[in-house]
Amino acid sequence: MHAVRPKQAFKLRSNKLSRDQKFFDMYSLVIGVLAAVALAILVLAMKMSDLTQGVYTRDTAEYQAAVAERIRPMSQVYLPGEESSAPVPTVKAAPDPEPVAAALTGPQVYNSACLACHAAGVGGAPAVGNAAAWAPRIGQGLDTLKRHAIEGYTGSAGYMPAKGGRMDLSDAEVADAVEYMLAESQ
Ligand code: HEC
Repeated sequence: MHAVRPKQAFKLRSNKLSRDQKFFDMYSLVIGVLAAVALAILVLAMKMSDLTQGVYTRDTAEYQAAVAERIRPMSQVYLPGEESSAPVPTVKAAPDPEPVAAALTGPQVYNSACLACHAAGVGGAPAVGNAAAWAPRIGQGLDTLKRHAIEGYTGSAGYMPAKGGRMDLSDAEVADAVEYMLAESQ
């Protein structure tokens, strides 16, 4: 017969108790961490839905109207005597084509394309406002000045690029700029 003596019995029980305690502590810790993670995910999900919900709302009147318009039947049949209950689909007139960019005026062209060289006389360019610099050039005739501005040329003073390097300008715009420059240099 193997009888457990009282002292030994106590030792066994306390061993078992402390092992249970350890397990319980660990278990609580794991559960606690999992609960915290779940809570964090929940908060994050709520935050995200708050931020994005507005964008995807599909029950606004405008959205519904847009859908109704897109899925509207191509045509409808009315029996004789029957009144049209649905509004007759209206075909929207195509918007007017974009107006071609209005031609720039002489001063506008000068300010955007010529001023860089002709305001101060960079690289030998006759400065606008300097009548003495322009007098001999005006002697060549207006047509020559315009042609030189449009086609570009190299004179004794320097290089005048065609249209001041702005090939997007029309001949007429450059010609207007020349007239403006001359008017400012009399
Ligand atoms: C990169 C500098 C530069 C730009 C930009 C420029 N010019 Fe000139 N331009 C010159 C130079 C340099 C001359 C003088 C060339 C010479 O006579 O040797 C000149 C000369 C001229 C002349 C005199 C031509 C002649 O026969 O004497 C006219 C007119 C003129 N430019 C118009 C214009 C107009 C208009 C623009 C803008 C659309 C323009 N230029 C932009 C440098 C420039």
